[in-house]
Amino acid sequence: MVPACLRSVLYVPGSNPRALGKIPTLSADAFILDLEDAVAPEAKVAARARVRDALEAGLGRGRTIAVRTNGLTSPWGPDDLEALMGRPDLAAIVLPKCEQPRDIRQVRAALGAQVGVWCMIETPLGVLRADTLAAEAGVDALVMGTSDLSRDLRVAPHPERLPLLHALSTVVLAARAHGRLALDGVCLELDAPEVFEAEARQGRALGFDGKTLIHPGTIAATHAVFSPDAAEVDEARRVVAAFGQARARGEGVCVYEGRLVEQLHVDAARALLAQAAFIAGRAG
Ligand code: COA
Ligand code: MG
Repeated sequence: MVPACLRSVLYVPGSNPRALGKIPTLSADAFILDLEDAVAPEAKVAARARVRDALEAGLGRGRTIAVRTNGLTSPWGPDDLEALMGRPDLAAIVLPKCEQPRDIRQVRAALGAQVGVWCMIETPLGVLRADTLAAEAGVDALVMGTSDLSRDLRVAPHPERLPLLHALSTVVLAARAHGRLALDGVCLELDAPEVFEAEARQGRALGFDGKTLIHPGTIAATHAVFSPDAAEVDEARRVVAAFGQARARGEGVCVYEGRLVEQLHVDAARALLAQAAFIAGRAG
């Protein structure tokens, strides 16, 4: 089951026992145990066994753990899937370079409906098919893969991610059209917190629910960006209250601090309050 709120999703290389061992000490909303790009070909088989054993030992109990398999047409993908059959508490399979609805169906056929599919959108064709992929049964989330996509588009890193904006927004549109979560790609800058924060803020402004991460040092900043702050919560409460008073007077809209408030604004305010309550409950 995918949680109502996924702000921070940390990649952890399946080949790195120290990093895997750190998971119980980390507060990310979810983890992606990686068998694909972070794992060298000669380490794939051992990483698969390590990830399988970690799940068997209860790593997924009480936390959201997804596994990124290798592509299903790669030499490792089918064995990755098989190793994950019947593993307890596996929230989702992350499908890299997702382009084909049949790959999503193959995961569902192998692992059953209780395991979600998170589609990585990281190829030009994947972006163009984001709508079709998001529509598939069992898809919980679309995950931007900005590094692979940049390579395929032949674009250089850009401080405002200008060359990727169309793809980023396409993924948010597709996710929203089908009620899925949208997760932004990773920021590769490990020593520049201001660059990370600006990119995370941009992701939230574009409509993403959260961000995928490569380093635990970025979890707190991600939560700060993707959680409603005290002023937003206060504002949402006031909007709901003002509209409630208007409704009690028999009016369908109201003006709050010089702005028109309609039911749709109240719905958004309620969603923000629910998210804040979920986060507070989680912290508690
Ligand atoms: N998950 C869990 N723990 C991690 C981690 C991660 N993604 N990245 C670093 N850590 C741990 C390290 O193991 C280290 O723990 P230790 O002190 O017990 O040894 C601690 O955090 C500090 O790490 P640091 O020394 O700052 O970084 P590093 O040089 O060990 O690792 C990277 C840097 C980039 C190699 C590493 O963060 C990483 O592998 N990230 C994930 C990459 C990935 O999955 N890519 C594929 C998707 S894009
Ligand atoms: Mg990749």
